[in-house]
Amino acid sequence: MLRRVPGAGESTIIRNFPMRLLDMNSIKRITHNSGLFSLCLRATFLAVLSTSAMAQSGGAKPVDDSLRTLYVSPAEIAEGKSLADAQCTRCHGNDGISVSKGIPHLAGQRPAYLHIEMKAYQTAARTDKHMVAAAKFLSSDALLKVAAYYASLDPPNPASAKGGSARPDPLQAGKAAASGCAGCHGEGGNSKTGGMPNLTGQDPKFLVAAMKAYKGGQRKHEMMKTLLADLTEPGMNNIALYYGLQKPGKAQTPSPGDQAAGKTAAADCAGCHGDQGISGNPATPSLAGQDAEYFVEALKAYKNNSRNDDTMKTLASGMDEKTMKNLAAYYANLQPQPPKVKKPLTTKESAQNCDRCHGLNGNSTDPLVPSLAAQRVEYLETVLRAYQKGERKNSKMAAMTTGLTDSEIENLSAHYAQQKARAVVFVAAPSK
Ligand code: HEC
Ligand code: HEC
Ligand code: HEC
Ligand code: HEC
Repeated sequence: MLRRVPGAGESTIIRNFPMRLLDMNSIKRITHNSGLFSLCLRATFLAVLSTSAMAQSGGAKPVDDSLRTLYVSPAEIAEGKSLADAQCTRCHGNDGISVSKGIPHLAGQRPAYLHIEMKAYQTAARTDKHMVAAAKFLSSDALLKVAAYYASLDPPNPASAKGGSARPDPLQAGKAAASGCAGCHGEGGNSKTGGMPNLTGQDPKFLVAAMKAYKGGQRKHEMMKTLLADLTEPGMNNIALYYGLQKPGKAQTPSPGDQAAGKTAAADCAGCHGDQGISGNPATPSLAGQDAEYFVEALKAYKNNSRNDDTMKTLASGMDEKTMKNLAAYYANLQPQPPKVKKPLTTKESAQNCDRCHGLNGNSTDPLVPSLAAQRVEYLETVLRAYQKGERKNSKMAAMTTGLTDSEIENLSAHYAQQKARAVVFVAAPSK
């Protein structure tokens, strides 16, 4: 039998048949079309999911408890609404759209998921004290109804997602920030100006350490200190990542010394800076292709204590300017190599990993798996951190969050908060 759900927009639930899943647009078309037969045809055609649990539930047999929310009647949904109005609205907002920080939207969330989570608060598998108190005295029947009610509502609009502005990805951000460096360090970090070091061919860790040393004054250079004054640590990481991924080339600047003499003198340097000027240690810079004028300045800086490094100071102290120039000429003419840097996934790319379970753009098509689209951004962040720390327990989500950095959590949360939420309606269509 076919039943309209009052107050639930266009959604339609048909009872006692294996479920099929449709999105809201298809439902609109279907419900404007008359007749169960046409509905069934379209339902079958448009089906995007039919879990084995559903398939097995067949005919009018009792259903798996985890999917019972899909079988409640309009009258039961109305009871769920009364309960929600009395006990949940003050936190979760009117129509399940939360206006409170840290409290998730419930509108349009997947029904079986809501039911599972309510039970999780009752058994203290989820420990939020407000929710433990809110769920404590509800009968299992009441849980079903209130879950089905919230699932039947129109989902939130992402425009209401406050603070959900996606930050650019690290590489993009690094590129943008590095545009201010190109005038001196060259487009893409390959220097064309004598005295300006190449920034390519270096491990990002070294570049970050160098920037910090200017900022902290351990490397005395007023100009670089001023230029980097406003950079935060994530900002430095982004810039270093950007330069680490640029194609290194020899600095296109003069290198007037004697390369052959430099090669001989470089025997003392190879142990740390590599045979061909390519360092294998992130704390030690590569020297291949480096601008010769800067190279000499750097050695002088160690000598006169404006740069701190005991080994380099010892080596530079006994060195005359001619040897420095020869070494500089030798290294400037070696071919630089890209450091070992893995290009990170963009937020969009890593979200595809999540979409495998959470549905396209976070619109879950599985009644047991939550939607993420248009959820409150700070709630998503909190929850992802809770999975990561093991405070909220779920083996799949623990695995998915272990490797995430803070900024990946922020970016993924912002990404999902901004997606358009689509209501799905779980329609029970007769199997042929
Ligand atoms: C005092 C405020 C408060 C009240 C009242 C309240 N909630 Fe909540 N609810 C919260 C907070 C805060 C969270 C997030 C807790 C967490 O991170 O575990 C939450 C989370 C939830 C979740 C989990 C959502 C998800 O996406 O995982 C569900 C389901 C839920 N509430 C349903 C209800 C229902 C149904 C009622 C009424 C019976 C209710 N809540 C009453 C504050 C409240
Ligand atoms: C006005 C020219 C100028 C600009 C603009 C500039 N730099 Fe520099 N940079 C220099 C000079 C000169 C040095 C060498 C300073 C020294 O002797 O220690 C240097 C050194 C560096 C070093 C150390 C390299 C090494 O091999 O040790 C890093 C890293 C660096 N700059 C990063 C940046 C970044 C990032 C920006 C943009 C946000 C930037 N610089 C903008 C001129 C500039
Ligand atoms: C024991 C290891 C070691 C040896 C040997 C060594 N270096 Fe270094 N070198 C370093 C480290 C570490 C740094 C980075 C120090 C810092 O953070 O300022 C460095 C920095 C430099 C720099 C600055 C590069 C830049 O991009 O800022 C130059 C130039 C340099 N070394 C040249 C030489 C030369 C020439 C020799 C041989 C005469 C030599 N080094 C031998 C470890 C070594
Ligand atoms: C293998 C399937 C799977 C993958 C992949 C997956 N998730 Fe989940 N996710 C789940 C399940 C199942 C739950 C419900 C777990 C629970 O009950 O706590 C969940 C819950 C969540 C929640 C809590 C939602 C709420 O309303 O409280 C968030 C946020 C989340 N996932 C984000 C992500 C992100 C971001 C990724 C990608 C980095 C991801 N998930 C990848 C299966 C998955």
